[in-house]
Amino acid sequence: MNQAALLVTTATAALGGLLLWGTLDSLPSSSAALATAPALTPEYGEELLRNTSVHLGAGQTDPARRYAGNNLDCSSCHLESGRKPGNLSLLQSAAKYPTFSGRDGKVGDLADRINGCMQRSMAGRLMPKDSLEMQAMVLYVEQLGRQYAAMGESSRRVVEPAAFAEPARAADLDHGGAVYRQHCQVCHGVQGEGLKETGNLADGYLFPPLWGPDSYNIGAGMARVLTAARFIKARMPLGNPVLTDDEAFDVAAYMNAQPRPAMADLDRDYPDRTLKPVDSPYPPYADAFPVEQHRLGPYAPIRAIYQKP
Ligand code: HEC
Ligand code: HEC
Repeated sequence: MNQAALLVTTATAALGGLLLWGTLDSLPSSSAALATAPALTPEYGEELLRNTSVHLGAGQTDPARRYAGNNLDCSSCHLESGRKPGNLSLLQSAAKYPTFSGRDGKVGDLADRINGCMQRSMAGRLMPKDSLEMQAMVLYVEQLGRQYAAMGESSRRVVEPAAFAEPARAADLDHGGAVYRQHCQVCHGVQGEGLKETGNLADGYLFPPLWGPDSYNIGAGMARVLTAARFIKARMPLGNPVLTDDEAFDVAAYMNAQPRPAMADLDRDYPDRTLKPVDSPYPPYADAFPVEQHRLGPYAPIRAIYQKP
């Protein structure tokens, strides 16, 4: 067995073990049978979140319905299609909408929020609100909300490390690279390129890419170092989230310092710039701190100037 094959085997074995682990603390899927046939049902909506690249990415043969620009799945970040309690869970999302979005500068509904991830996390384009795919995803997230309300306390339990606490310093990219090589590279690859399920991109990824042309774009929430660090501390390495706050912070910054797809018109985000998150990695800002400090921290000095009297 060559070294690459050994790494894949190691990573796959790790994943096998944790998938079993992952099912213990999350809500089981409502449908045992895979609902892959397009229909206005929550089951099809769930299938779209789970196998996004197959239906909305490279696997979609009709270019008019290929909305995603990369081949991540929604479930690459919203674990178990959002059924897993904790970081980036979608169990309690539906009830939050419609709500005001600082990024958009207006009130948006759940479909608008899904389109936010489609345009940014999936580096794609807006899905028409009346499309079957959008309506099925909305139905699914609404159903998750009803299922959450009916869940017992034990299934609502969040099983993950203590929440990420932000270090009071700038992130250290060299240390982040070392953490990456030690804890992440085995699955996500030497160049952050991930590992495809098969030779065919239409089948998606076993381990999704973290940067490069097939990753989330610079306008995505995951491109913010604090959002990424919270996710990584809670979830990564998948099934064995052992990083300290310092490690999660530095590896998040390292990951987001690598090249990824651009996005047009980012200067139109946050029409009220005082609402822009301190770790937003792209200008313009309502303050005079350099882009570098918004990308890496420290954040306390930036926050201080926004504090209302
Ligand atoms: C690269 C990671 C990533 C991918 C892929 C992704 N998202 Fe997201 N999503 C996020 C982040 C980060 C947030 C913001 C969470 C926050 O506001 O704290 C988010 C927020 C959301 C929300 C709002 C949740 C809430 O409770 O307000 C919904 C709904 C959502 N995503 C749906 C989707 C759907 C559907 C897809 C696939 C089409 C998708 N996401 C793909 C990272 C991702
Ligand atoms: C055992 C394999 C494995 C290891 C090790 C691992 N990951 Fe992941 N990672 C995954 C898988 C698989 C997913 C997608 C989640 C899913 O499909 O359930 C993922 C998803 C992600 C995502 C969101 C999706 C994307 O592609 O942007 C980020 C960010 C991420 N991992 C970062 C890291 C970092 C940083 C480390 C090291 C600290 C790490 N991972 C270690 C397997 C792994």
